[in-house]
Amino acid sequence: VTTRIRVELAGRGYDVVVGVDASAELGALLAGRARVAVVTQQLIADAHGDRVRGPLAEAGIAHELFTIDDGEDAKSLATVERLSGELARWGLKRSDALIAFGGGVVGDTAGFTAAIYYRGVDVVQVPTTLLAMVDAAIGGKTGVNLDEGKNLVGAFHQPLAVLCDPTVLATLPEREYRSGLGEVVKYAMLGDDALTALIEERNADLLARKPEVLTDVIARCATTKAAVVAADELEQTGVRATLNLGHTVAHALETAAGYGLLHGEAVAVGLVFAAQLAAGLERIPTRAADRAVGLLRALDLPTRAPEGLRADELLAIMGRDKKSGGALTFVLDGPNGIERVVDPDPAAVRKAFAAIGVEV
Ligand SMILES: NC(=O)c1ccc[n+]([C@@H]2O[C@H](COP(=O)([O-])OP(=O)(O)OC[C@H]3O[C@@H](n4cnc5c(N)ncnc54)[C@H](O)[C@@H]3O)[C@@H](O)[C@H]2O)c1
Repeated sequence: VTTRIRVELAGRGYDVVVGVDASAELGALLAGRARVAVVTQQLIADAHGDRVRGPLAEAGIAHELFTIDDGEDAKSLATVERLSGELARWGLKRSDALIAFGGGVVGDTAGFTAAIYYRGVDVVQVPTTLLAMVDAAIGGKTGVNLDEGKNLVGAFHQPLAVLCDPTVLATLPEREYRSGLGEVVKYAMLGDDALTALIEERNADLLARKPEVLTDVIARCATTKAAVVAADELEQTGVRATLNLGHTVAHALETAAGYGLLHGEAVAVGLVFAAQLAAGLERIPTRAADRAVGLLRALDLPTRAPEGLRADELLAIMGRDKKSGGALTFVLDGPNGIERVVDPDPAAVRKAFAAIGVEV
């Protein structure tokens, strides 16, 4: 069964399609385009290229694969420049389209290229990692890294559609998959009780990547992301910031622990911190925090920070965070739902750090 979730944006709304063979929709979606450039990475093209090439060929659409390198370093202006040159030499025009076929690195880089090439060409996001399906591919945030920091250059550029086929996740490396599960737990903790129950009941099937449970899980996450994006497309009202649950500490952990920690693993630990801090501030009952930690355990996700990290070190990193504006801000659950909490009681913060194994 295929699920369709609408991202409601005035005049530019689009569907997130979740289900086996979702990319079959590419033909109908792009019918009539003279050319379509498929931006991907070599490994993804080798394993799954036919899933996009097939529907395009069937619809008689001229298309070509363009590969970018693997890893965060490839998400750069240099890649955008090289890719744009290749697209221009191939003859891609304003009325043509791009397909971003890959994880968040491909989605962000190809999406940003689409945002600025010819001052904007259409892009379809066809995510191939769990993280990209539940998060990165939805919402139109695109961009690349500078030496000075991650995601410092970018644009909002909403896709024509997001097509998620859970069967492509079969080839995803185990750690990358589990990293995506960290974001899935975040959506459960954002208040999706049905998703919480689904994870509790089907955790083994989810770890086994069963397509039918994945379809349900991805669709639930996409529904929340779509609603948040529709409420705050350009990240101006603060609604979209609720998606940063667990991320204040996660970003600090990623910086402090270097690349030893994948983003979703850092998010998992950050979610434990957020739950413990919310409980410590008596914003939520302790058993709610315990249930959240139980979800992470059920999915074999880390619940403690790497050894040897100190709270003052992490706090110093958080103070430099570009989104913090000077004060220490956390996104926490509470009686009014998920909200930003500025400069909470330092004793509760210390206790929450201790709960994730950080020296205080
Ligand atoms: N735009 C947004 O709103 C947003 C949100 C969250 C994260 N991001 C960005 O997403 C990026 C991380 O994305 P990611 O976690 O998807 O990492 P990624 O794109 O680097 O993919 C991880 C690895 O898996 C490989 N891979 C992808 N799909 C595969 C498949 N089906 N089978 C086998 N291998 C596969 C990739 O080649 C890569 O080596 C970061 O740059 C982050 O900033 C963006």
